[in-house]
Amino acid sequence: MKVTSSPSPSLKGTMSPPGDKSISHRSLILGAIADGESTVTGLLTGEDVMNTATALRQMGVDIVISLHTKTAKIHGVGLNGLRTPDAPLDMGNSGTSARLLMGLVAGQNITATFTGDASLSKRPMKRISDPLSMMGARLSSVAGDNAMTLPMTVHSQRAPLRSMDYTLPIPSAQVKSSILLAGLNCEGTTHVVEPIPCRDHTENMLAAMGASIQVDGPDIRLTGQHPLKPQDFTVPADPSSAAFPTVAALIIKWSDITLPAVGMNTRRNGIFTTLLEMGANIELLNPRDIGGEPVADVRVQASALQGITVPPERAPSMIDEFPILFVAASYADGDTVMRGLHELTVKESNRLQVMADGLRAAGVSLTLEGDDLIIHGRNRPPYGDVEIDAHLDHRIAMSFLVLGMAAQRPVTINDATPIQTSFPDFIDQMTRLGAKLTPD
Ligand code: S3P
Repeated sequence: MKVTSSPSPSLKGTMSPPGDKSISHRSLILGAIADGESTVTGLLTGEDVMNTATALRQMGVDIVISLHTKTAKIHGVGLNGLRTPDAPLDMGNSGTSARLLMGLVAGQNITATFTGDASLSKRPMKRISDPLSMMGARLSSVAGDNAMTLPMTVHSQRAPLRSMDYTLPIPSAQVKSSILLAGLNCEGTTHVVEPIPCRDHTENMLAAMGASIQVDGPDIRLTGQHPLKPQDFTVPADPSSAAFPTVAALIIKWSDITLPAVGMNTRRNGIFTTLLEMGANIELLNPRDIGGEPVADVRVQASALQGITVPPERAPSMIDEFPILFVAASYADGDTVMRGLHELTVKESNRLQVMADGLRAAGVSLTLEGDDLIIHGRNRPPYGDVEIDAHLDHRIAMSFLVLGMAAQRPVTINDATPIQTSFPDFIDQMTRLGAKLTPD
């Protein structure tokens, strides 16, 4: 489905971004292996999370989801109660489902094959198969041991996994979580060191469920074979999804919108820090806790943005928000310098290249050198007038739709269907705020 985004009048009103994708996946996965019934409120019902739910059902977990109320009931089967599925588990577009569930399955005495769409089948899985193999898991890839891409099979093994000490070579919460989920069934203590902090939802949720987990700065220690207590999970609004209406309101003159109860975990909210440094008029109102996570109501008013240098160490706290930050930088005055963006090249698409190509085609001036991107903002709207290939990547699709809302000429994306993975009602909600989005 093609969608065209045209210069829009000011955005006004309140919109509720969907539930946090990371926390939604984790609430289903951890609820599935708890001892008893868990519930989830505010669940993201996008395709990625539904793929996690379907896979868990295929492994014997009873999960009832209401798409209408965005709630779930999960009948946990206990730490080691999953069964071998009858058919391959289709992860669709979802790297989080694939990497977390492979870790979970590795810790059980079952065999499961994981498949994915064209985008996910290109993404690197060696980053999880290496550490899981060190724990004694057996994983194979149709593409061979060197490539390690989906389709992949996690094979049952007779002996329980071994706990280990592992230092994360990249700041990846998916890798960290995959190892911790495998460690839940290990004898002994799995020790993960994260030299650069990345999102910590898995650790926080495991602690709340009574797991034997200690976090001391970069050191995470998890002692396996401790049953998990069921929970009533409440999921805050996803800061990664909130970033799209936020930037839209900043760049469209006279806009003034409010986004209630957005997650403000400091390992996730780098985009707000960065936009504030750029001069954004963003207020973080009514700070409070929801389901153990800090949240705030985000009020955004149209603003004149300045180019800045983004500190590379902030990248993990806003890794999914770079595409939309590039859009904000395209409307700013002066250079926005962003270095060390290698991880962006292995997301749902090569986000660094795809964004740079699309922005150039829309008339944005930029310099891409290796993993560094400098956007030369000229304090006026980019020209637009392009059709962008979204490369099966929801965040590329939404970023270019936001770009088109304030550009001189419309911007079309070739395929809006990937938006279903993380923000199913993006087009409806943005339209309600005033955006001009027309499906072809
Ligand atoms: C996620 C971690 C990040 C992020 C992804 C969700 C998670 O991936 O990009 O959208 O839920 O753990 P990496 O672990 O590859 O950085």
